[in-house]
Amino acid sequence: MKIIAYGIRDDEQPFVKDWATQHPDVEVTSVTALLDEQSIQQAKGYDGVVAFQQIQYPDAALQTMSDFGIKYLSLRNVGVDNLNPAKVKELGIKVTNVPVYSPEAIAEFTVTQLMNLLRRTKEYNAKAANQDFRWAPQISKELNQQTVGVIGTGHIGQSAIKIFQGFGAKVIAYDKFHNPDVEAQGLYVDSLDEIYDQATVISLHIPLFPETEHMLNAAAFQKMNDGVFIVNTARGPLIDEQALIDALDSGKVAGAALDVLEEETRLFNQDFSGKTIDYPVFQNLTARQNVLVSPHTAFFTDVAVKNMVNGGLDNNLSLIQTGTADNLVTFN
Ligand code: COI
Repeated sequence: MKIIAYGIRDDEQPFVKDWATQHPDVEVTSVTALLDEQSIQQAKGYDGVVAFQQIQYPDAALQTMSDFGIKYLSLRNVGVDNLNPAKVKELGIKVTNVPVYSPEAIAEFTVTQLMNLLRRTKEYNAKAANQDFRWAPQISKELNQQTVGVIGTGHIGQSAIKIFQGFGAKVIAYDKFHNPDVEAQGLYVDSLDEIYDQATVISLHIPLFPETEHMLNAAAFQKMNDGVFIVNTARGPLIDEQALIDALDSGKVAGAALDVLEEETRLFNQDFSGKTIDYPVFQNLTARQNVLVSPHTAFFTDVAVKNMVNGGLDNNLSLIQTGTADNLVTFN
């Protein structure tokens, strides 16, 4: 059996090596290139493909993969929004993801960034760097006083809820699909409007679908409490960035922590030191003392990366051996 793994970073290499040692009957080839029209040529003769990338998987690469007789594609991450569902279905490619590589990694980062917003650490660090050690005017807020509206109660949302509650915050939640544990605690409200009406913090934990794109737009911000805090560790396009800028300008939004941006794929996990970045919205947001921009790093922990590599390879092997796997993705 032969598996080819695309986009393997240096930090993933040791985990790929360990997995290969534990599976001597499988030939694993790792390549650093992302999966595209050129790199897919290397997959000829392999039984399955493992991949992880934030940019779009090109239809042409999927076509070539299928022409080579490869029907199994295992993603090492959870989101499948960069695959064209119509093409996957047309080609009959079976896709798996790793839905629970470490929800805690993302949830912990979510709360870290919210705490940084509430305690105004960006401002204090900047002042301290200039030897300005005065307290005022950066008076902070306490998490235990907040009503956190969690939108999306999958694995990550549930983990975030537990941590928010551990800090003593009141949590309310919204999701089209109710989770029994969250339901049992009576946390669900019936509409997003109720979240906007009650929450002093809004934390996004939902996937990107056409119907969730720009869910936080001008109309949504208008319905929120004055001085609301926004945390997005899910997907950039969930927020209309210009509408967020307007809401920050008006004071409707008191602060935002953004681990994801609409156009992040041309920036994040790349070194732009000394280079000019042509993304005015990015500059506008990063210049603000009450906005924290991080490079889609919530997932990036030792535990998560190991589980992503192992999960991707395990799923691919299962597909090759049995034609199915635990984490098959259904495209509607
Ligand atoms: C995911 O697993 O879908 C993530 O958001 C992690 C990522 C860097 C793509």
